[in-house]
Amino acid sequence: MAAFADHPALRDHWYAVARSSELDAGPVGVTLLGEPLVLWCDPAGDVVAAPDRCPHREAPLSAGTVTDGELTCCYHGWCFGEGGACVRIPSADPATPIPPAAHLSTHRCQEAYGLVWVCPGEPAGPLPCIAQEHDPRFRRINTEGEIWAASTTRMVDNFLDIAHFPWVHAGTFGGAQEPRVDHIDLEDLGDGWFGYVYEVDAGNPAEAVAVTGSEAGIVHRWMSTGFHLPFTVRSTIRYQDGLEHILLLVSTPVDDVTSWFTFVVWRNDDFSVDPEEIIAFDRAIGAEDKAMLEQVPGTLPLARTGLVSVQADKPSVAWRRQLAELLGR
Ligand code: FES
Ligand code: FE
Repeated sequence: MAAFADHPALRDHWYAVARSSELDAGPVGVTLLGEPLVLWCDPAGDVVAAPDRCPHREAPLSAGTVTDGELTCCYHGWCFGEGGACVRIPSADPATPIPPAAHLSTHRCQEAYGLVWVCPGEPAGPLPCIAQEHDPRFRRINTEGEIWAASTTRMVDNFLDIAHFPWVHAGTFGGAQEPRVDHIDLEDLGDGWFGYVYEVDAGNPAEAVAVTGSEAGIVHRWMSTGFHLPFTVRSTIRYQDGLEHILLLVSTPVDDVTSWFTFVVWRNDDFSVDPEEIIAFDRAIGAEDKAMLEQVPGTLPLARTGLVSVQADKPSVAWRRQLAELLGR
């Protein structure tokens, strides 16, 4: 079978590839669906995403420097400006026209939720919608991205699954949860998300008090978890006192078995707790998933008969079916 990340249908979707703040220090090299890209902020203030290969002698442009929005290649100093246009070739007579092939061919790119999103093909739809981004009662907290040695398909499968909570997350919040999963009904969750609503009792250790706002040993959570094809998952958590904690789980295929992961949090708290304290618990939970998934080799089988599933796997099975359709399988 062809490599999963090479599938042409995946090119027509938006992927978060970096935090916007990473571009402050100069060009950033990322890999999306197996393709190395350079990102930088051009003189107009727009992020440019282009193949990380100089059209002159193929040096990695991400090894260059950015000055006043212009990216200079580190090999012979060719310089690229707005929209990736080549604006200077130091070795050539300035009166000579710049060869058209010297301009970078770029990918569609936009910034949202503190992240840079790239679509290498024709976008089949919009970015995932988080309505709280525009609600002044909520604040947004971003955290660093990290590379997981795990397939994006296995990550989405995991993020849609609650049956692993008492096992993988016993060290954080999962110990208080009943292993048996209640009947799951899938539904349209609004804003382009499809998934389910449920309730869980979550362990509330000292490290979680900043997040839950409660000192009780166990807190009750009203939750919803849903997906937006191909690979984003939104998990909303509401506590008894009306506190809401919304998590956008972002998994981007670097290649078949490597992914870039970050998460974004929106909360309607009183903004008094240090953001780092808020996300520390979510980071610890993410580390538990990462440790688990890095032990599971390869991509998730997408064929209906490829895996044994039970009722608790219903959300992942629905997502897998929709992904298989998207890939024409
Ligand atoms: Fe980039 Fe020559 S390889 S300027
Ligand atoms: Fe998990």
